[in-house]
Amino acid sequence: MTTEFDSNVFRGARALITGGMGFIGSNLAIALVERGARVTIVDEMISGYGGNLFNIEPIKDRVSINYGDIRDANVMNYLVRDQDFVFHLAGQVDHIMSLQDPFPDIDINVKGTAVVMEACRHHNPAAKVIYTGTRGQYGKPAKLPVNEQAPLQPLGIYEITNVAAERIVEAYHLVFGVRSCLLRITNTYGPRAQMRHSRYGVVNWFVRLALDDKTIPVFGDGRIQRDFLYIDDCVEAILRCAASDCAWGEVFNVGVDKPSNFVELAETVVRIAGSGRWELTPFSPERRAQEPGNFYSDISKIRGMLGWQPKIGLEEGLQRTVDYYRKYKSHYW
Ligand SMILES: NC(=O)c1ccc[n+]([C@@H]2O[C@H](COP(=O)([O-])OP(=O)(O)OC[C@H]3O[C@@H](n4cnc5c(N)ncnc54)[C@H](O)[C@@H]3O)[C@@H](O)[C@H]2O)c1
Repeated sequence: MTTEFDSNVFRGARALITGGMGFIGSNLAIALVERGARVTIVDEMISGYGGNLFNIEPIKDRVSINYGDIRDANVMNYLVRDQDFVFHLAGQVDHIMSLQDPFPDIDINVKGTAVVMEACRHHNPAAKVIYTGTRGQYGKPAKLPVNEQAPLQPLGIYEITNVAAERIVEAYHLVFGVRSCLLRITNTYGPRAQMRHSRYGVVNWFVRLALDDKTIPVFGDGRIQRDFLYIDDCVEAILRCAASDCAWGEVFNVGVDKPSNFVELAETVVRIAGSGRWELTPFSPERRAQEPGNFYSDISKIRGMLGWQPKIGLEEGLQRTVDYYRKYKSHYW
C-alpha cells in the first residue's frame, strides 16, 4: 500500500541535480521546484546524451543552470557548497556504446562520481547524496523477483561502472560520513526522455516508432519479462528517499513487481498510438550477449520502509507518454 509522504522537507531547501537536463533529472527538477526547492542543475549537455533544454521549459525561470562537467573539480567544489541535497544523475547511460568504447563510462560514471563525492567531502560534508544506479547492476538474475541481496553480476561496462560508482558513494558514507542513499532503478519511460536514437530507452523508442507509423522490432520471441516504470513513479521514489531519514545508508530497488513482456509492450504502444506495427526480429549478437533475460524487481524493501510503490500502470503511462510527444514532437525528433 502506498502512504503519503511529507514533502515539506523540500520547501526552501537547496538541491543540486547533476544531469538535470536529462530525462530523470529534468522531471526531478520540476517536481522539486513545484515543492518549493531552490534547484541548481549542472549538465554538460554532451551531444547524443539525453540533455534537452526544452525538458525544463515549465521551470526555466525558476532554476539555476550551470553548463559544467561533473569531472571538473573546480565546478563541483563550487556547486556543492550550501546544498542540502545532491541528486547525482549525470552519466553515460548508453550500454551499447559502453561496449564499443568503455572510456566515457569509466571517465564520467566512475571518475565523475569520485569528483562529486570529493567535492561533498571537502566542501559540504553535511549534504545528503542520492545516487541513481541501475537494475543492470544485477545482470542475469538467478531468481525472480530480484531483491537487494541478489549478487551483482553486471554484463556490460555501463553496468560495471554503475556498481563502481555506487561503491564509491557508499564508501564516502561509511568512511567520511557523507550521507547517501543508493537506488537501483529499472527501465524507466515517459516524457522528457531522448527520442533521437534507439541505443537506450527502449519503451520511448517503441513510442517514437509507433508515432512515426513504423515497424517496432521486438527481439527474440518477445516473451522476455521486464518491469517498465513510469517516470513520475521513479521521481516520487527519489523524493521519498531524500525526504526520509531512515533511507541514509540504504540501497533500494526502484521498479515494478508486476512484469510485462515486450510483445505486450509493443501491442499496447501501437494500440494507444493508433499507428505503427510490430514484428519479431532476431537479436543482434551484441544485444544477445547483454540480454539478462527475464527481470523484475522485488520492491518490498522500499515499500516497507518508505511506503513507495508505483501508481501508474503501463496503459496509463504509455497514454501520457504518447500525449506528451504528440504535443512536443518538434523538440525531440
Ligand atoms: N532512464 C532509465 O531507464 C534509467 C534506469 C536506471 C538508472 N538510470 C540512471 O539514471 C541517471 C539518469 O539517466 P537518464 O535516463 O536521465 O539519462 P539522460 O541521458 O537522459 O541524462 C543524463 C544527463 O547527464 C548529463 N551528463 C552526462 N555526462 C555529464 C558530465 N560529465 N557532466 C555533466 N553532465 C553530464 C547528460 O548531458 C544528460 O543530460 C543515470 O545515472 C542512469 O544510469 C536511468
